Amino acid sequence: MARTSWRPSELTTSATVWYFLRASGAALLVLALGHLFVTHYLTVPAQTGSQFVAGRWTNVLWLAFDWLLLMLALSHGLTGLQGVLKDYLVGRPGRLLVTTATAGVGLVFFAIGSATLLTADPAALRAGVGPLSGQRWLGELLSGLLFLVATVAYVGLGVGAVWLVREALRGRPLGRWRFAGQWAWALHRLTGLGIVGFLLVHILDVTLLPLAPDVYDHTVAAYAHPYLLPMEIALVGAVLYHALNGVRLIVIDLLEQRARVDQRRLFYAVLGLTAALLLPSVVVLLRADH
Ligand code: HEM
Ligand code: HEM
Repeated sequence: MARTSWRPSELTTSATVWYFLRASGAALLVLALGHLFVTHYLTVPAQTGSQFVAGRWTNVLWLAFDWLLLMLALSHGLTGLQGVLKDYLVGRPGRLLVTTATAGVGLVFFAIGSATLLTADPAALRAGVGPLSGQRWLGELLSGLLFLVATVAYVGLGVGAVWLVREALRGRPLGRWRFAGQWAWALHRLTGLGIVGFLLVHILDVTLLPLAPDVYDHTVAAYAHPYLLPMEIALVGAVLYHALNGVRLIVIDLLEQRARVDQRRLFYAVLGLTAALLLPSVVVLLRADH
């Protein structure tokens, strides 16, 4: 039977989760935004092939950076996903399943990502050889997954846009969706889930580096495909929005100002800053020699 109230142990857990999301979010400001700066502002995704990575992974500090990013992005993202799923599953068996499944996915992907970082040899990357070299089907499979992620994102955005336009044309108020804080919350949730989905595919993709750098380069080249460009822009926009809105939440909570601040102004400021920071990466992407 569905329960309507939480036990004390669950309240302690949710407080821990609340603090963890804020502390890991603050660390990800450096790690995730630093990673995006390297892959989307200093260069473009299609040019981050095995030669590019070999240059970075000769430096142990970049390996440590990537390992911290792996650990925190996975634990933060999957803890967030767990909270979202538990919002809709109130019964004990469902909640237990969600906890077990997200923890299991986290451990498996953390092991895969760590193995990639530990086994990648910059010399082999430069030579473009690995135990699975030549297995083109692997590259096709992973590029296929990227196209699938893009298609899911486009369909989701398209359905949302059609719904908004239809409601506006009918002159209907957007139901209970009248406050800036509600839109900020929904966008934070959507962007968080989108980044988690991409991250899981991305970790599998990066696994190809030590296994078959030649096949990896084939997958990375797919990033130049016009069908994937809007997804790359949307991904940077999603990370920027989620990070800036995360800062907004952390700051107003730390200052205990949630009830007093003008949510509408802050939300517009976050949107404006997201657009301003996104613009240079779009220019870099569109002007790149793909
Ligand atoms: C870049 C720096 C980041 C910051 C500052 C940040 C901040 C936050 C904060 C403060 C929350 C809690 C929101 C709340 O309690 O209502 C949160 C939730 C979440 N974050 Fe992040 N985050 C960052 C990066 C990421 C990344 C890289 C991912 C995905 C791998 C991610 C996925 C999520 C998810 C799925 C949630 C749950 C959303 C919800 O409950 O509606 N975040 N983030
Ligand atoms: C299209 C967008 C992206 C591109 C082209 C890209 C590119 C790369 C590249 C080339 C590497 C290899 C190591 C390096 O050079 O640092 C890497 C590793 C990594 N990236 Fe990204 N990245 C993208 C988006 C993201 C996002 C949004 C996240 C999540 C916050 C992320 C998290 C990671 C992690 C955790 C690793 C280490 C993976 C492992 O150890 O298996 N990346 N990425």
